[in-house]
Amino acid sequence: MADAASPSRHWRTTLIASTRRPRQEFHSLAPSIHRGSTVVFDRLADAVDDWQQTDRYTYGLYGTPTVLELGLRIAELEGARHTFLAPGGQAALALVYLAYCRTGAHVLLPANVYTPNLEIGRDLLTGLGVEIETYDPSIGAGIGARIRVDTALVWCESPGSITMEVPDVPAIVAAAHARGVAVALDNTYAAGVLFDAFAHGVDVSVQALTKYVGGHSDLLLGSISVRDEAAYARVGTAHRVLGMAVSPDDCGQALRGLTTLGVRLAHLERSTLQIAEWLRGRPEVATVLHPAFPECPGHATWRRDFTGSASVFSIVLADEWTAERVARLVDALRLFRIGFSWGGVTSLVMAYQGSSRIDARLRDRLVRLNVGLEEPADLIADLQQALERA
Ligand SMILES: Cc1ncc(COP(=O)(O)O)c(C=O)c1O
Repeated sequence: MADAASPSRHWRTTLIASTRRPRQEFHSLAPSIHRGSTVVFDRLADAVDDWQQTDRYTYGLYGTPTVLELGLRIAELEGARHTFLAPGGQAALALVYLAYCRTGAHVLLPANVYTPNLEIGRDLLTGLGVEIETYDPSIGAGIGARIRVDTALVWCESPGSITMEVPDVPAIVAAAHARGVAVALDNTYAAGVLFDAFAHGVDVSVQALTKYVGGHSDLLLGSISVRDEAAYARVGTAHRVLGMAVSPDDCGQALRGLTTLGVRLAHLERSTLQIAEWLRGRPEVATVLHPAFPECPGHATWRRDFTGSASVFSIVLADEWTAERVARLVDALRLFRIGFSWGGVTSLVMAYQGSSRIDARLRDRLVRLNVGLEEPADLIADLQQALERA
């Protein structure tokens, strides 16, 4: 069959080089999903290899309009110089190490840090001559005494995502910057909005967008926001050479997630406080580790530095609770599903009985909860029946 517009062309050519196009401008409220690896140019002179894509697109690996839109939106929210995207929160954490560490570098990270973050150093970078050491998350300005001439990076996580301690990030930043050392923060709990990382001096703010920005447990994505040119140059180079491509479809989901982040966070904060307050009154519960409660380590820092709280917190059951009884409690829950993540619409529960992140005295008795969008009264009834059955 011949091509009607170009009779000499074979239809197989028309399949690739069609001349029919719908009108291009489409003013929709929904984000446009631009997929694509190859970008084509009208003239060879336009084909400038500019990975930063500041005034032209060059190659899909460096971002399509959808990917760049998400980066710009996160940068706007966090007040960042720029936001790079990674295929997950863990990839974003790894990128920061690779941006700042060379053979011989020393890295400090809090003892309660997200375990896979520690594992990047322990299981990969130590083999490349990088030394990692942990510090007590309540160290504050005391971090100064732990910084060495070869220290390249200090990590913070606020709050610790299982044990919930809130570190004094500004004090850590002041001590690190006084010695010319950069500070990176896992800012996932704050969703980039409840804690202003850059106003508090941090150089690099990482989020697992998987959690609150995605918000529906259906995508994996990470962001790395940088404060200034120096951080931009380091992180940008690592991002480019590692080829950290992200899916435009996932970015479209995250852009949609951003539009409802405000209402979700407000609702989650209220429900979580209501449930945490109820648990605080239960005889089975020894401590509720929620940053908004005075008994949570770092509560005063949280009050000073944060504008709100999120949906994840932990409880420590009373002394007489054994690991087996805690497992019975977790297994008896119906609405709280057993799962490792947080920040979505479904309430989740997890007990980390083997985790070295948790003080050995609490390890067997600590249970982390993530509150979702179910009605709080139903979640309380679920906790009540499970406490009674366990
Ligand atoms: C505090 C924290 N940071 C980073 C991550 C990693 O995110 P992702 O699952 O997107 O790799 C997680 C995931 O659980 C997390 O809890």
